[in-house]
Parts: sequence; C-alpha cells; structure tokens
Amino acid sequence: MNNPEYEKLVKSFLNSDFKKNASKNFSYLERNILNEDKIILPNNSQINDFICTSTEKKWPNFKTESFATDFIDTSFVRDLYVKHSFPLLTHELIVNLKNLFKQLKVKNIIEVCAGPGWLSHWLKIYGVEILKTTDNLEWKDFQNYLDFVECEDALQTITKETQAELIILSWPYIDDTAFNIWNKLKTNQYLLYIGEGEGRCTANIKFFKAVENHEIEINNINETYLQFFGIHDRVRLFRKKERR
Ligand SMILES: C[S@@+](CC[C@H](N)C(=O)[O-])C[C@H]1O[C@@H](n2cnc3c(N)ncnc32)[C@H](O)[C@@H]1O
Repeated sequence: MNNPEYEKLVKSFLNSDFKKNASKNFSYLERNILNEDKIILPNNSQINDFICTSTEKKWPNFKTESFATDFIDTSFVRDLYVKHSFPLLTHELIVNLKNLFKQLKVKNIIEVCAGPGWLSHWLKIYGVEILKTTDNLEWKDFQNYLDFVECEDALQTITKETQAELIILSWPYIDDTAFNIWNKLKTNQYLLYIGEGEGRCTANIKFFKAVENHEIEINNINETYLQFFGIHDRVRLFRKKERR
C-alpha cells in the first residue's frame, strides 16, 4: 500500500503493544471457533466486534487512524487464525452449507486437503454427516489436527470414496492440486470450493478454466460469508457435467 501516512502508522503499531491486542482478539476466535467443547459458532455480528471484515460494509475512512488500527489488528489476528483454519467459520456459514447440502440432496460428503479439520468438525456439530476428512499433513504451519483427520493424499481419497456425492475443498494451494482433484471427479459429483478467484491465492488458472462451465450459483451463501478484511475468498459450487 503506497500511503506514507499508513506506512508510518504500521511502523508505530509494530513498535507498540499491537500484537498483544491482536492476540486478545484472536483468543475470542480461539475460544469460540477452535474449541471442541463449544456447540454453537459465533455469528457474523459477534465476530465483527473483534475483527475487521469485508462484509461489515461500514468500512471506516482508509486514512483515519481507526481504520488503520482495525486493519492491522485484523491482519495479525488472521496470521494467528490461519494456523488452524483459512475460512472464517461462522454460524451463518455452517447453517447455509447444511441447508445447501439438504437442498442438493447429497448425503455422502467428504473433505480433502482439510488441514486441521475445523470445517468438517463444525459441519458435524451442526448435524451434517461427513464420511471422511483427509489431508496429507504436509502444511507445516498447522500444529494440531483433529483426531478424525486421516493422513491421505486427496486423489487417493477421491479414488477410494467412490460413493462420495460432494467433495469439499477449501483453500487449495496455487498449484495443480485443485485441477487434479477436479479431473479425478466423476460426472455429477459436486465440488464445494472455498477460496479466492483466478490469479489470487488459491488454485490456478488451469483449475478455473476447467470448471468454467460447471458452476452453480450460490450467491445467497456469499451474502453472509465473512471474509477477513482484504481477503477475497468465496464459497463456490461446481458440478461435473457429462462430456459431450
Ligand atoms: C492452505 S491449506 C488449507 C487447509 C484447510 N482446507 C483450510 O481451508 O483451512 C492446504 C492444505 O492442503 C493440504 N494438501 C496439499 N496438497 C495435498 C494433497 N495432494 N493431498 C492432501 N492434502 C494436501 C496441505 O497439507 C494443507 O493442509
């Protein structure tokens, strides 16, 4: 960001007890989202009290100190949060996903490249059956994986779980992983993708080209999908059509 005022503020914040503040705000997310004892997730408005998000819709003036403060604080909070989960897990998101799966009439759901497994965990807590959750455990930033996460390569999971009707894939690397997963899918299988768009931080151009004509609009979910400020992830649904 080429704004000298902002740069000055960042420097002063880095020298202050800013990180302490961020860890205080992160501890709200930790206690309420990354916690196996909880049975309900915080909602958007509760989370918006602690961090700056893109769906808050009332962004303060960029040049004001309060904006910079919230923004930098949120970046630090995100740094801590992504050691556990990339998507912000909220009550609205999980309820919407549960309703979507019901509407699609899919029962056999798996999650691959799941990281520590918090998305699968919360879907299960809200009553969605997840057949299998896997990750190859190679992402070194994740420290704790939930017990049910099995160590397996995504392509192997998809090959083995032939009955899967929907595959969840959240925040895949910017390499061929998502593209290879899409190629492995059979006709009519759904892929629920959470991540950024083409040219950003998740998946690659080969993937976005391949899924181009297979998308099913689920804008209602994105209306309440909460993003960390400055992050452009969305929930997208693709269904593999028959080849002509
Ligand atoms: C950026 S993290 C996202 C984790 C999680 N889905 C989330 O949204 O928080 C990418 C994950 O993909 C996993 N991964 C990468 N390639 C994989 C593969 N071929 N098979 C299984 N897991 C893989 C990594 O270990 C890592 O946990």
